[in-house]
Amino acid sequence: MKLDGATALVTGTNRGIGHHFAVELLRRGAKVYATARRPELVNVPGAEVVRLDITDQSSVDAIAALAGDVDLLINNAADTAGGNLVTGDMDGIRSTLDSNYYGTLAMIRAFAPILARNGGGAILNVLSAVAWTPVEGNTAYAAAKSAQWGLTNGVRIELADQGTQVSALVPGLIGTQTLFDFAERHGIEFADGAVMDPADLVRLALDGLEAGEIEILDAMAVEAKASLAGPPRAFAL
Ligand SMILES: NC(=O)c1ccc[n+]([C@@H]2O[C@H](COP(=O)([O-])OP(=O)(O)OC[C@H]3O[C@@H](n4cnc5c(N)ncnc54)[C@H](OP(=O)(O)O)[C@@H]3O)[C@@H](O)[C@H]2O)c1
Repeated sequence: MKLDGATALVTGTNRGIGHHFAVELLRRGAKVYATARRPELVNVPGAEVVRLDITDQSSVDAIAALAGDVDLLINNAADTAGGNLVTGDMDGIRSTLDSNYYGTLAMIRAFAPILARNGGGAILNVLSAVAWTPVEGNTAYAAAKSAQWGLTNGVRIELADQGTQVSALVPGLIGTQTLFDFAERHGIEFADGAVMDPADLVRLALDGLEAGEIEILDAMAVEAKASLAGPPRAFAL
């Protein structure tokens, strides 16, 4: 998909990877709807900033009514906390599944007809290597990302006839405050070079999208996916 002249909508742009997506899309010549639950925290000059909670159907309906010119949907927003499946708080587990799976799905269902009207376009779902290799301390998030991977593969088949490219971005460790806070809570020290800069990830993602790739993986995700051929294993941090 060509980004120069495209109209993109990015979820969760008030911080982290979503912010970098909005900035880089503008730099590449796209019009950008930069959305967030708290739009007052979005700092992306040149973007159209709109409030959006992906787990609130009325909020999703409102943005779909407003942004009828979108031909690229980037589902980045997610609750990444989750905790562990057996001992974690059930509300946290549900909230993680709600945003990663149902929130992403609600956005896709709302925008599929819009993308069709606008020539097919593309959807990019931001997954995680933990979809393939769960991490101790946050297995609920890993399970939600696995569900989101299945969702992405299903939607790709369903939207093929309308010409919508459905791609997955699968990152490993990306240097956002959320990752560093998780590491601090769990006493994790990352090896040199293990953590990728979010701006580099976004360039990788958008280059892949423009090249028509349906799965865009960083080095850690390549290793995680290869491991699926063997017995299940955990993410080594
Ligand atoms: N950082 C990593 O190492 C890493 C690795 C692999 C994959 N990922 C994935 O990359 C994406 C972004 O991660 P990140 O590290 O940038 O996370 P982040 O800094 O924690 O940002 C998450 C964003 O999602 C928003 N959000 C959460 N729930 C939402 C909802 N219901 N509606 C709308 N927005 C919502 C947050 O808004 P609020 O500020 O309002 O909470 C925030 O803007 C996620 O899908 C994550 O799973 C990250």
